[in-house]
Amino acid sequence: MGQFSKLSVLRRYIDYVPLWNEQLSTAKSKRRWTPGGIAIGLSIFLNVVFLWRWWVGTTPTALDNYQSLNVYSLLDPAVAIPAASSENAVVTSLYTDAFATAVATLGHTINKVNSSASKVMIYLPEKTSPRAVCIASATGWSAYPIARIPPPHPGVQRHFLDQYSKLQLWDLEKIGIKSLVYLDADTLVFQNFDELFSLPYRFAAVPDVFLDDRGFVAGFNAGMLFLRTSREVLKDMVAKIATANYPAEDAEQSFLNHYFGKEALRLPFTYNGNLAIKKRSKAMWADLRESIHVVHYTLVKPFLQGDYAEVPINKLEKNINSKMGKHGGLFADELNDWAEAWAETKEKYGEAFAECEALSSS
Ligand SMILES: *[C@@H]1O[C@H](CO)[C@@H](O)[C@H](O)[C@H]1NC(C)=O
Repeated sequence: MGQFSKLSVLRRYIDYVPLWNEQLSTAKSKRRWTPGGIAIGLSIFLNVVFLWRWWVGTTPTALDNYQSLNVYSLLDPAVAIPAASSENAVVTSLYTDAFATAVATLGHTINKVNSSASKVMIYLPEKTSPRAVCIASATGWSAYPIARIPPPHPGVQRHFLDQYSKLQLWDLEKIGIKSLVYLDADTLVFQNFDELFSLPYRFAAVPDVFLDDRGFVAGFNAGMLFLRTSREVLKDMVAKIATANYPAEDAEQSFLNHYFGKEALRLPFTYNGNLAIKKRSKAMWADLRESIHVVHYTLVKPFLQGDYAEVPINKLEKNINSKMGKHGGLFADELNDWAEAWAETKEKYGEAFAECEALSSS
């Protein structure tokens, strides 16, 4: 080996570049963020998200996966229900003439189950006619005028524009009501719910259910509420409706979910039998129906026509029949229940209705 080849060995050492060193690793990590690398990373990430969503989407909740397992009664028969009190009320609302016959029919069904509570109908005098207030209250509601609470934000769904007035329920402390069950006008009562009035909580409601991807949710539906009245709470809520952060569209229901989300007592579905339950789970509905307390006519309103328009009293039967085919006839039984309740109401209060018709319609 001569001088030359020694030099070439040395050169090989000098040219040596380790397969890994600090410099190289930083160079490599810089190179990771090439457009191609980002595309591959994003693709892996999206695949994981997609697979996770698919898994969640194909794993139904216990409610969508309803099975008839529990055969026991809702209430423990060993626990006595406290006696009736004049401080308890069932309350509904009339914000438009179109709901007058529904309120009357609801009142008749509450009378039939011998509710121990008084019946109060809050109404907006500037939005309803004396004729409609007369028809609605004919089945024994005490009509109580309230001041409208306007929506604090734009973007409220147009059918919910008067719904913030529902907060006035807390104001009924003023007329001696301590404990109340609120029912939207599009509900009917099938069983006595006196047990609710002795709940020690300030607020209770039934979880909501949607037909879309949301399905059964943790939030509640504001069509049926149990609450303890308090003018102080009302003042606090009204002070916060404009500044609290919540979606405007669902009006008071959205606000109440944010105000009471942490403490609302979850009531059994039987107290707010939303027709959407039937659409999601026929098995669950079949079991509920056997002893349901309240049916909430959310997806089909037997007493309305067109876009929330009033149906004249003499056209109501025909109107109910015109709804039978909705949702593929899924709600025929529930519509027949409504028709039957209306027939009884008309039979019993028809004369009162006729007298109301003579009153002013505006
Ligand atoms: C309500 O009371 C009446 C009269 O006392 C009675 O005939 C009827 O059976 C009761 N209805 C229910 C559902 O308890």
